[in-house]
Amino acid sequence: MTQPIDINLNVNGRDVRVSVEPRRSLADCLRHDLSLTGTHVGCEHGVCGACTVMIDGEAVRSCLVLAVQAEDRLVETVEGLATDDCLGVIQDEFRNNHALQCGFCTPGILMTAQSLLSAEPEASNDRIREVLSGHICRCTGYIPIVTAIAKARDRLSAASRDH
Ligand code: FES
Ligand code: FES
Repeated sequence: MTQPIDINLNVNGRDVRVSVEPRRSLADCLRHDLSLTGTHVGCEHGVCGACTVMIDGEAVRSCLVLAVQAEDRLVETVEGLATDDCLGVIQDEFRNNHALQCGFCTPGILMTAQSLLSAEPEASNDRIREVLSGHICRCTGYIPIVTAIAKARDRLSAASRDH
């Protein structure tokens, strides 16, 4: 067995130190070592998007990232989107627009949406659709999801204009 390595990362604003085998994926580290089970693992080869988290603000597939590659980086997972008892704006619009279609895909989709709207606050609906193409949903479709992200975009832009 390969010797574990101690790594430091910041997860959802909290500094953590964890001991991992060099080949452990970030997804497995989050789920099994840090008990952050909101990040899901589907295909395990970068296709379905279920495992999406953010590293330094950028959406990444945590099944394709080794935990050791996240050393000293800022990792954000779905557990970090809500503050206290208050849902984040994107989560709230998912609720308002019935976009939470299944609990397996939604966390990854939320993280992609969060990363998109942070980097591109005026992202068009076409751009939202393009980015969502990296998430495979086999249940119903994408229309409520696109609507929810577009509504969140509009709310966030209005809030930033008011400040
Ligand atoms: S589990 Fe990572 S992309 Fe499917
Ligand atoms: S949202 Fe998960 S299968 Fe459609």
